[in-house]
Amino acid sequence: MTITRRRLMTLAATVSFGVALAGAGLPQSAAHAAEDTVKIGLILPITGPFASTGAEELAGVRQYMADHGDTSAGKKIELIVKDDTGSPNETKRIAQELVTSGGADVLMGFGLTPLAFATAPIATQAKVPMVVTAAATSSITEKSPYIVRTSFATPQGAYVIGEWAAKNGINSVVTLVSDYAPGIEEQDWFIKAFEKGGGKVVEKLTVPLKNPDFAPFLQRVADNKPEAVFVFVPAGVGAQFMKQFRERGLDQSGIRLIGTGDIVDDQILNDIGDVALGIVTARDYTAAHDSEMNRKFVKDFEAANDGMRPNFMAVGGYDGMALVYHALEKTGGDTDGDRLIEAMKGMSWESPRGPISIDPETRDIVQNIYINKVERKDGQLYSVTMDTVKDVKDPAKAGK
Ligand code: DHB
Repeated sequence: MTITRRRLMTLAATVSFGVALAGAGLPQSAAHAAEDTVKIGLILPITGPFASTGAEELAGVRQYMADHGDTSAGKKIELIVKDDTGSPNETKRIAQELVTSGGADVLMGFGLTPLAFATAPIATQAKVPMVVTAAATSSITEKSPYIVRTSFATPQGAYVIGEWAAKNGINSVVTLVSDYAPGIEEQDWFIKAFEKGGGKVVEKLTVPLKNPDFAPFLQRVADNKPEAVFVFVPAGVGAQFMKQFRERGLDQSGIRLIGTGDIVDDQILNDIGDVALGIVTARDYTAAHDSEMNRKFVKDFEAANDGMRPNFMAVGGYDGMALVYHALEKTGGDTDGDRLIEAMKGMSWESPRGPISIDPETRDIVQNIYINKVERKDGQLYSVTMDTVKDVKDPAKAGK
């Protein structure tokens, strides 16, 4: 959305549309098209080491449009898809371009925390809603009043699995996380809940985010002989971790593996193979989620994407679109950033993951967190829900 267009919209609201356009010296048809179209700038890591996130997110967004059409409140929804390759400088540059010459009314995506952090000031400056459908560090939503999140906050899953571990006979844990904001946050919130429940963390290990070699860290885990290892790596990276876990013989060591759902995300779970059986994780979505809406979602998604199974990233993208469509319905198609954000606050709807809502105070998602165990079902591996913690707010924002 450019300043020119914003001015045009104000003019159009006060004087007759045609007169305003003639005054602004623009051909009527061009400005008319802009008025009837809502542009969503979707920025994702479509290539590079986190391309699996881009693939799931994009497919989730497209599935929503396949299910609900390409209009909302009488406006045509236009997707502008951009690949940031997972580089924060690229995300920021693309976002800047999209809100100026690109005319984007909404920014969406953000596959990793640093990419969301880099873009937040642009959303604030341009007063354009920034719908975070993947990146999960708690504080992201505090970086701009124009940010709304439909993925999850890392403390949601980390806290729930920490409580679960303490209550389920696990006394000693080594934590092993990717060394960047969401990893450190997962580690801290897991420990908070686990120690509150009486558990003891014997060592904290951080592994480089880029090109990780897990072997030396897995050796530390083996040497410590904890009852369990708590692991966080971003979506898609779990397969590589699990390969090294097995190669180092950790699967035969009696040390249990627990974590948030990232380690066994649904896109890679079948490829990980039987070594994943029995892993317990906490997350807002599993493809095995037992609802009619989800069964249809999984079936349609797999059919549209060459058998790729939707993971929690896909659902984040699907619901990002749901949020924009519903907000437009509420504003009657008005794309003013402040009005859209106001419309998004407090919104609640049914997602393939279950009931979700946007906390009006924090603009972050409130959702069920499912405690899942990897099992074989109909010949495939799934994270099957054993227990549900309902309506979880980000514990970091709920004073935990
Ligand atoms: C983030 C990225 C992931 O792929 C994930 O599974 C969790 C968090 C992030 O960078 O915020």
